[in-house]
Amino acid sequence: MKVRLHGFIRDLPPGPTSFPHLSVDMGLRLRDNPLGTLMGYYEEYGPVFTLRFLGLEMVFLIGVEANQMLLVSDYRDFSWEHGLLGELIPFIGHGLLTTDDEAHDRARKLLAPAFYPARIKSYGERMVERAQAAIDALTVGDEVEIHGWTREVAIQIAGDVLLGMSTSEHRAAFFAEHFEQGLSYYGGYIWQTLLMRGPGSAHSRMRKHIDQLDKVIEEEINHRRRWPPGNHRAILDLLVHAEGDDGERLSHKEIRDQIFTLLFAGHDTTAATVAWLLALIGRSPSTYRKLQDEIDDRLGDRPPEIDDLFGGMPYLDQVIKETLRLYPPAWLGPRMSRKDFQIYGHEVPAQTNVAYCSWLTHRLPEIYEDPEAFYPERFTDEAFRALPPGAYVPFGRGPRTCIGARFGEMEIKILVSLLMQHFRLELMPGQQFPVRTVPTISPREGVRLKLRPR
Ligand code: HEM
Repeated sequence: MKVRLHGFIRDLPPGPTSFPHLSVDMGLRLRDNPLGTLMGYYEEYGPVFTLRFLGLEMVFLIGVEANQMLLVSDYRDFSWEHGLLGELIPFIGHGLLTTDDEAHDRARKLLAPAFYPARIKSYGERMVERAQAAIDALTVGDEVEIHGWTREVAIQIAGDVLLGMSTSEHRAAFFAEHFEQGLSYYGGYIWQTLLMRGPGSAHSRMRKHIDQLDKVIEEEINHRRRWPPGNHRAILDLLVHAEGDDGERLSHKEIRDQIFTLLFAGHDTTAATVAWLLALIGRSPSTYRKLQDEIDDRLGDRPPEIDDLFGGMPYLDQVIKETLRLYPPAWLGPRMSRKDFQIYGHEVPAQTNVAYCSWLTHRLPEIYEDPEAFYPERFTDEAFRALPPGAYVPFGRGPRTCIGARFGEMEIKILVSLLMQHFRLELMPGQQFPVRTVPTISPREGVRLKLRPR
């Protein structure tokens, strides 16, 4: 069944009626209780429902079949660039996240070597150095808001590994500051504020930060062009010397857009996961103890090495999987349909904003027993392999699955294990952990920890 609300409103699958005066109310509900509100729509309307919200129409497609369709079987029929992700173009440009077809495939091929295992290993060594330095600046007895702290460390790591800029330099700190400030434009609750333009608007402030960032990147690229091609320390160097199939080098703009995309996609996703993980184990003493034992047994006092991080700490793997099930940072996969299509008995026309939603799929009781519970033990290797394809998608899936998944997992493991080696992490009392959903799922008020002695 479909509803037609107005003559000028398109014929889309059903959903909560939202005339303009109701939009604000819906916005507040989505802000205060996003998961509960969306789950309520799922229960009322089923796996396909339309949100009409301050002029935006978005068809949510929930569950395994929808995920498989958008991510694997029919992914070419859905555009990233013309979906809601296109809103990022003023900031990150036309990189991997915001292009389709040949432009995307070419860029993915060029970037793939940056994520080969041998390079991931060298990033790991530098991540440990950066994380260790940040931990050395903490002291027993400190109270730390760990999401903010991890964001800072993650941007430092990104500045080093992606750009090859040392964070001790004023230049790198300047870059990190402007990047965070520019990105804060996307931190609002209501997507439509993004559409406002003009002097004094958030958009014009973002533009000023971009101008500063572009200047730094331009100089860095010019500088690297003068280095010999073998000297690949950072992903930026790799791009500067990369050649496409046509033998052409990438333009400044292409390099800039890919680097901004990696910075955008890579740092808050990781930081949010570390923060959620520490909040979740802080409330589950048995998980905390079990994880602490594993880290102590495997590492003792030494820092983690690559063999520890991939396969050496299986319980840490399970804890991360369960954290990403409950709080997948990139929770919404927006696209624009390029053709009419059918799903779960509904027809959806071409040129519709649609999205798959890992957050809701991960909470479906028909897939996960007791889905609200934090229970890392559910992810034994066997149980994980037995999940239906498309049931667990914190990194997306298919040809456009997250290119930085191993990079991100490694960073999370390094930060969690080093923090737990140094301190007993105690949650400060009275925290509710309300959720921010834009641009990633993160703890809106942070996660406050007291650092106790081991
Ligand atoms: C816990 C950490 C991370 C999570 C949960 C995560 C999640 C995701 C998800 C869900 C997608 C697919 C989005 C969609 O289908 O709409 C994606 C794509 C992507 N991610 Fe990640 N990500 C993480 C870390 C990283 C890191 C560290 C980097 C880079 C250094 C990165 C770079 C990218 C890029 C470039 C894409 C687009 C790939 C393409 O379209 O070919 N991500 N990520």
